[in-house]
Amino acid sequence: MSNEKVPTNLEDLPGVGPKTAKKLREVGIYSIQDLAMSSVHELVEKVGLGEETAKKLIEMAEEMIGKGLSTAYDFYQARKNVEKITTGSHALDDLLGGGIETQALIECFGEFGSGKTQLGHQLAVNVQLPKEMGGLATPDSPVKAVYIDTEGTFRPERIEQMAKALNLNPEETLKNIFYIKVFNTDYQVRVVRKIPHLIHEGHNIRLIVIDSITAHFRAEYVGRGVLAERQQKLNQHLRDLLKIASIYNVAVYVTNQVMAKPEGFFGLDLVQAVGGHVLAHAITYRIFLRKGKEKTRIARLIDAPHLPEREAIFRISDEGIRDV
Ligand code: GTP
Ligand code: MG
Repeated sequence: MSNEKVPTNLEDLPGVGPKTAKKLREVGIYSIQDLAMSSVHELVEKVGLGEETAKKLIEMAEEMIGKGLSTAYDFYQARKNVEKITTGSHALDDLLGGGIETQALIECFGEFGSGKTQLGHQLAVNVQLPKEMGGLATPDSPVKAVYIDTEGTFRPERIEQMAKALNLNPEETLKNIFYIKVFNTDYQVRVVRKIPHLIHEGHNIRLIVIDSITAHFRAEYVGRGVLAERQQKLNQHLRDLLKIASIYNVAVYVTNQVMAKPEGFFGLDLVQAVGGHVLAHAITYRIFLRKGKEKTRIARLIDAPHLPEREAIFRISDEGIRDV
């Protein structure tokens, strides 16, 4: 499966007219599935519905997709649709159980120059490879990625270089990446909510990169007094991403710059932040990157749900991410 399963229209719900449907779409709720995973608070605050109406709508949506009846077997079935994107390094792929997964959010954290952005570029290229080469493309369906750049470090030239190294057409590869530069957290949140719309328009988006997810949050919310507010907004942003990952079978790769070692680092612990919320079938992974000798980089997988905590070494070359 890819994301061709088209969810039923919002208008199919009794009581939802075109006006309410429009309002729901404006906040990123495009389908019955999206609605079923929304919170009452969200519908009251952002859509302006009454609390009772909001509750009723969510319950109806849940019933329609049979969420109330889901079993471990349903989870197992959904997991069967998980696909993996190669990182370009076998060692790193092995560490991750075969590559980065769809229906998952991967947080890559590490200090400056550790390779977070390079991996983001590489994944945006690799997802476009045919399946037998570690991507998600099939002959009749090219794959697209969304690249959200908050730091201005995206380089199309680097994409071109990586594409050439894999015998992909550089121009096509670039055309299959939606590139959005964002300047503040409000816009960042809104852009992510527009992604389901792109998918419904027929774009086969299977990867979202946000480099970095935290920079604007750090810059805008400074000081102790606003920490709770920042965390709340970031949590909602993460939930939006997990929802997309889960509903549309998409991989989400986000970066997070931290200053020191994982033991004593200081920054935002993203996965911890969403830890309490089991969102549909989405899973989270954390990779800690650090610099090794010369061009090598060491990746450590932390807190993965079903994989041991291990390390892998790879290198960053002119061709991209490769084995040592
Ligand atoms: P911050 O965003 O500053 O936190 O760092 P980062 O973790 O995103 O690091 P990034 O992915 O930008 O890694 C930078 C490193 O990648 C450089 O120090 C180079 O070693 C390597 N690199 C980047 N571009 C190239 C390239 O075109 N060729 C080669 N061989 N290496 C590259
Ligand atoms: Mg970077």
